Amino acid sequence: MKILCLGKLPDDLSADLQKLGSFSLIERSRALNEEALGKALEDIDVLLTEPQDILPIAALEQAGKLKLIAQRAVGFDNIPLEYASRRLILVTNTPGVLDNATADLAFGLLLACARRLPEADRYVRDGHWQGFQSDLLLGCEISGKTIGLVGMGRIALAMARRAYGFGMNIIYSRSQSGTKAQDDKDLELENSLGARRVDLEELLRTSDFISLHCPLNAATTELIKEREFAMMKPSCIFINTGRGKLVDEAALIHALQTGKIKGAGLDVFYDEPHVPRALIEAPNVVLSPHIGSASAETRYNMAKLSSDGIKLAFSGQMPPNVLNGHIFAHWMEKVISQRLTSL
Ligand code: GLV
Repeated sequence: MKILCLGKLPDDLSADLQKLGSFSLIERSRALNEEALGKALEDIDVLLTEPQDILPIAALEQAGKLKLIAQRAVGFDNIPLEYASRRLILVTNTPGVLDNATADLAFGLLLACARRLPEADRYVRDGHWQGFQSDLLLGCEISGKTIGLVGMGRIALAMARRAYGFGMNIIYSRSQSGTKAQDDKDLELENSLGARRVDLEELLRTSDFISLHCPLNAATTELIKEREFAMMKPSCIFINTGRGKLVDEAALIHALQTGKIKGAGLDVFYDEPHVPRALIEAPNVVLSPHIGSASAETRYNMAKLSSDGIKLAFSGQMPPNVLNGHIFAHWMEKVISQRLTSL
């Protein structure tokens, strides 16, 4: 069996995967293009990916032996899941292990924007500081303000807990699937954090801080565009640690430049790693390079969940982090029959 890992993997986990078959790794800083990817995948049984590895169907078509894609991230918008399921390719991701790290970064961006930390840091470094001044670099208060969380999954919940700790009022909107589990979670949020579920429009109109925590899919692509920015308070600070394509970036830039919103903290961008010059030059924006889950502990745990999932699947057990578990029985038959024919 041939395993290919795009990006780095801790040595102990690489060694572990080597026990399953031949293991190779492509350390790339930028995503491979379709042609290079197609070529790299020709003979591969298992592929480990990261969010930047956008997998075009044309490249996957050249991967006739591919059986499993293990995404080291919770988001999986770079992987054509329906196509993979049709081809009986199992897909896993890494939910649950990165909630705190990602919420820490989102809350860090919120604090950095509210208290103008990058500006303050530059001010000191550039030698401008003359002494205490009561109106120097005034930011805005956080406690008592309203935070609007768009989406209510694990990361949003971790964000809500932080917001509660800072004395914020919490509102959130989420898609309308209305399962019993979701209703129970709404109740828990209400009881323990005082959070209130509202529709997106009310959230946009009444929040002092807005933070995006929904997955990117056909329904959420450019969820926030000119119309939505126009509803926000001019004092609103907008945080995105989800995916860049949740937002019409030109509309965001326009909203920042025309004072429709006050500021933004951005960890993700529409066409990564490209960051528009207007955002780089904007004084009211704090930027980070898609590092939501980038604590050493969390990145290790993501890699471990990924490699554990691969080991489990090939030992005949469905990994807990599988995205298309409905194909597992057929997947097993395929793997076993291929093993038999290669004997
Ligand atoms: C990172 O972007 C993730 O989806 O985990």
